[in-house]
Amino acid sequence: MRSGSFSDNSLSSASSVGNVDNDEGFYKQQEPSIPNSAAMEKIFRPKSLQLRSKQQIWQESTEGQKMLEFRRSLPAFKEKDALLTAISENQVIVVSGETGCGKTTQLPQYILESEIEAARGAVCSIICTQPRRISAMSVSERVAAERGEKLGESVGYKVRLEGMKGRDTRLLFCTTGILLRRLLIDRNLKGVTHVIVDEIHERGMNEDFLLIVLKDLLPRRPELRLILMSATLNAELFSSYFGGAPTRHIPGFTYPVRTHFLENILEMTGYRLTPYNQIDDYGQEKVWKMQKQAQALRKRKSQIASTVEDALEAADFKECSIRTQESLSCWNPDSIGFNLIEHVLCHIVRKERPGAILVFMTGWDDINTLKDQLQAHPLLGDPGRVLLLACHGSMASSEQRLIFDKPEDGVRKIVLATNMAETSITINDVVFVVDCGKAKETSYDALNNTPCLLPTWISKAAARQRRGRAGRVQPGECYHLYPRCVHDAFADYQLPELLRTPLQSLCLQIKSLQLGSISQFLSRALQSPEPLSVQNAVEYLKVIGALDENENLTLLGRNLSMLPVEPKLGKMLIFGAIFNCLDPIMTVVAGLSVRDPFLMPFDKKDLAESAKAQFSGREYSDHLALVRAYEGWKVAERQQSGYEYCWKNFLSVQTLKAIDSLRKQFFCLLKDSGLVDHNTDNCNRWSHDEHLIRAVICAGLFPGICSVVNKEKSITLKTMEDGQVLLYSNSVNAAVPKIPYPWLVFNEKVKVNSVFLRDSTGVSDSLLLLFGGNISRGGLDGHLKMLGGYLEFFMKPALADTYISLKRGLEELIRMK
Ligand code: CDP
Ligand code: MG
Repeated sequence: MRSGSFSDNSLSSASSVGNVDNDEGFYKQQEPSIPNSAAMEKIFRPKSLQLRSKQQIWQESTEGQKMLEFRRSLPAFKEKDALLTAISENQVIVVSGETGCGKTTQLPQYILESEIEAARGAVCSIICTQPRRISAMSVSERVAAERGEKLGESVGYKVRLEGMKGRDTRLLFCTTGILLRRLLIDRNLKGVTHVIVDEIHERGMNEDFLLIVLKDLLPRRPELRLILMSATLNAELFSSYFGGAPTRHIPGFTYPVRTHFLENILEMTGYRLTPYNQIDDYGQEKVWKMQKQAQALRKRKSQIASTVEDALEAADFKECSIRTQESLSCWNPDSIGFNLIEHVLCHIVRKERPGAILVFMTGWDDINTLKDQLQAHPLLGDPGRVLLLACHGSMASSEQRLIFDKPEDGVRKIVLATNMAETSITINDVVFVVDCGKAKETSYDALNNTPCLLPTWISKAAARQRRGRAGRVQPGECYHLYPRCVHDAFADYQLPELLRTPLQSLCLQIKSLQLGSISQFLSRALQSPEPLSVQNAVEYLKVIGALDENENLTLLGRNLSMLPVEPKLGKMLIFGAIFNCLDPIMTVVAGLSVRDPFLMPFDKKDLAESAKAQFSGREYSDHLALVRAYEGWKVAERQQSGYEYCWKNFLSVQTLKAIDSLRKQFFCLLKDSGLVDHNTDNCNRWSHDEHLIRAVICAGLFPGICSVVNKEKSITLKTMEDGQVLLYSNSVNAAVPKIPYPWLVFNEKVKVNSVFLRDSTGVSDSLLLLFGGNISRGGLDGHLKMLGGYLEFFMKPALADTYISLKRGLEELIRMK
């Protein structure tokens, strides 16, 4: 289990110089009396000083000088001494400052430098958490470069299943999840001297969780220093959470940014919105109508949407010209007009001064669709004039790096990004920002126990952040693609993630960290989640067998908490190992935790769907289709035709590669944890058995289950919580006339206007009986009773018979025992 977690102790023990306690004392006492011998110095001089002298050499080089100059020009530099004093005098401080002022790259370095200065370089251990992988990686790389070192020397990083750190690493950038994982095995963070929690203003679930744990830890580790960093100015909230911890603000410097809202964008660029533009954007009138209906529905249902609607209705467009007024009245708040974005980009590329453009989109799908559209454009798709890049949390790291590079002269860089480019990464040469005003936000409907993923309006704070990205290097421009009145209706801040997502993984972690009662623990959060959300999560963990009736962690639960994937995927991996069909199961789990490798280009959707359907054959399973596609790709790779294969089958090479590497890491994890035995041939003995794979998928995904009723012309699908549900059109089960299975297990359901299921697999009654749920819950009786509840609900009399005879048979068996 160790290699995937944070546990290797190079960081927590001062491995380079042996005993921590003695090291400093030795140095202090011995140094004056050691004769000036280079050889002696090499042997005895602690690493802290070796690091320092290396730094000096670097700083004297031209490149080093330039870097130093740059670092000194950052706003954080002026505050360096004040910050270090505040850190030494207080256990907790809150630091805020404009994005780009040097919080993430500089402050951890100041601490490291001052520790080295104070001859504590060998014993200090600074951990700086980042909410996202890409920032942990890019920031550590940047900081190592600023220090003239290779990554993995004094500065390293660690993200899920990947990392770069060495014996001498003293400053580690990691994702928040990694630090939580380390707390699993090292509750007191032994040896860690400073914890820096970055981007706390985002109010991510992991960060809010970590803050509760750290708040409890502080009294046990009085010498530990905690630094909270935030981009926006809600520092008081955090300060009061930590009993009035002092706050330090880094006054920032950004250039002025000229702001355009939709009304002046239309004036300026001469673009006219008409309903037909909307139809163009989405291809079909049908979609337009559907959106209109959904809009009307949502207007009734959702307060936020209606705020925007009200704002629009109340808007006073007197100041706009007649033409813009007409145009604005066609603006559809539910869709981002890709044509409008294209138009604005053309305007900038043709008419504006040089400088990179950063476009904020809602998510990966939108980015891909827009990228395809722009690539077909005569100007924007011309690689001699435009460098078009995407930036998204789950992209490969080699790709991520490209967005930081400067393009050749005369080439305009356009980066299509999600909201991750708001605060956590800084692209230096951005002068223009185009903001669609939305972000895909997960929310959670606790009443129906259904997660929702909808593009929602961003907050005013986020809009301000997006705007700010344009004024990094010179005066900039920001194009908000929505009217000013809509902006004014935005909420001030986004709702914390803890209050809007399912809490299963979190609850599992609370249990494995032995933090006591889940609900009591969560009541100590900055803002506590609703009791119903907590109850749902606990119930889920009981159903899958991770917790027993008294909310104690079971053996399965303990194993699950060690695997860096969602509980259901972890359960699938464990079952895959137990039932010796590991290869295909690892592919399924890797696919579900990276993203779908099947591409669905907007204009070739039919072709792409039928390519995917080929992989399913008669298996009625998106998961098995993924396994077949991956296996086909591996064969093609061996024959040097991987790319051709992907091209022909609408598969993403990048995603398949990511799946490949994740699979390898899963395997190491399972092997280390003893779940896969040494004779690794065994673990694939049944990998060809489609039924067994189906069973293991069912074991993992239960209670994600819906009943299938084949009617003459349609198929009705129902879940217990939502009633009738639909399949996403790219599911292999969506286009078939009949599904010859009574049940589908699914990975995810998402409420858009109806509830849609993503990725499903057909299962039979007997598989459901044997693999659905948790046999140990309330004994066999309890298990069967729960399944019986399902059967009753769906009124499956034949299955009820099977159930009764199975129950009888099992009782008989138990009696005989
Ligand atoms: O954390 P904060 O937003 O305050 O700033 P930062 O990430 O520490 O970045 C400080 C400065 O370093 C930025 O203004 C960038 O100019 C530069 N930087 C860079 O050149 N390359 C990076 N990968 C990260 C930062
Ligand atoms: Mg930062």
